[in-house]
This record gives sequence, C-alpha cells and structure tokens, in this order.
Amino acid sequence: MAVRLAPSLLSADFAALGQEIDRIRPEADWLHVDVMDGHFVPNLTIGPPVVAAIRHHTDAYLDCHLMMTDPGAYLKAFSEAGADGCSVHVEVGDTADLIAEMRSLGLHAGLAVNPETPIATCEPWLDRIDLLLVMSVHPGFGGQHFMEEAVPKIARVAEMARRDELSLTIEVDGGIDTETVGRVAEAGADMFVAGSAIFGQDDPVAAARAIRRAAERAGQPA
Ligand code: DX5
Ligand code: ZN
Repeated sequence: MAVRLAPSLLSADFAALGQEIDRIRPEADWLHVDVMDGHFVPNLTIGPPVVAAIRHHTDAYLDCHLMMTDPGAYLKAFSEAGADGCSVHVEVGDTADLIAEMRSLGLHAGLAVNPETPIATCEPWLDRIDLLLVMSVHPGFGGQHFMEEAVPKIARVAEMARRDELSLTIEVDGGIDTETVGRVAEAGADMFVAGSAIFGQDDPVAAARAIRRAAERAGQPA
C-alpha cells in the first residue's frame, strides 16, 4: 500500500503561506485546503481567492475539503481557482447532484463524512467518487484529539473497495500524528491529512517524514 501525505495548510502560518508550502512540498503528496463557511462548522478559513493565490504559487495537487452547507454554490469558483479535487460533506445532502457537478467541472470528486455520521450514508456513492474523506475529529478546528470511531469505518470501506475493485482513495483527517497514523493505515486508509502534527512542529519536514514512516511500518506485513 502506498502511503500518501496531505499536510493541512490550516495549521500553517497564513502570513507566510508561500514559504510554508515551499518548505513542506518535498514531503507533500497533496496539499489539504480546509474551507470553512462559518455555518456548517463554527469557523471561517480559506475561500477561492486564496486557493487561486496558492495555485499561482505551486503545482501541487490541491485537495479542497469543503466544510460548507452549500458547496454547490462555490464548486465552479473553486474549479476556476485551480482546485484539483473537492470533497463535499455527505451530511449536506444533494450528493448525486454535487458529484455530477464536480465531474462536469473536471474536479476529482470526494465525499466527506463526520464522526457521528454512519458510514452507510456514503456506501451508495463509493463507485462514483474518487475519494472518501473519513473525519477523525469534529470538523472546524485543527489540533483536536483523534477519535477511534474512524477506524472501523475505514476498515469497512477498505473492505468494500477491495471487494468491488474500486479505485477509491481513502483519506483520514483529524488528529493524525505518529501515534495514531498506524491504526488508520492498518485499517486501510491511504491518504493521511495532518495539520498540527506537521506545521505545529519546529521541523515540519522531519515531522512529516516521521508520520510517513509510522504509516509505512504499520502497512507492512508482521
Ligand atoms: C478539521 C480539518 C482538518 C484539520 C486537521 O476540521 O478538516 O483538516 O486541519 O488538523 P489536525 O491534523 O491538527 O487535526
Ligand atoms: Zn480537512
């Protein structure tokens, strides 16, 4: 299993975003961009103008996590800003239309699921999406504790993906560090978002390498 890391810019220094991106780029398979609308979650962060500025700065894959009540109103703007993939939350509904809209805009299509939402709500869509984003914290803020509830969800989706031979990326987001990454890697996640465990550290590059190594160790047969 290939281990891929998506450092979350939420924990980067927003006043020095370009430098933060350049520094972490060698260890970043994707850059995770947390978009919060102050309604679906009680926080406000990044919107299309900032994504456009990031796009002008880097060719990295921009993985936009839309924590928004009405993502459909903004998908075109994120696509035009240079997002590569967007993930919408299953909790907001309209999933079929949102997936179709992402596809028609040429975006990779992701579906995100909150800790308290049963994974069964995502299962009808697994053969139509590129990415399932399993939240392992309540969305809205970086630096929270990992919630174990994510582990059986990941295991179940990984099993379904294997059984149905789906080409699905299983991404996990929230509280990922060198201690927790092993459990989700073993369960079958293959894209790991980490914010505070990377950008919150003195040496973000070394921190990212350590998370990658811990995931790779867990993925190896005993
Ligand atoms: C939380 C965001 C996460 C956040 C993760 O709502 O979706 O992407 O940046 O931060 P850490 O890794 O600090 O839990
Ligand atoms: Zn996120």
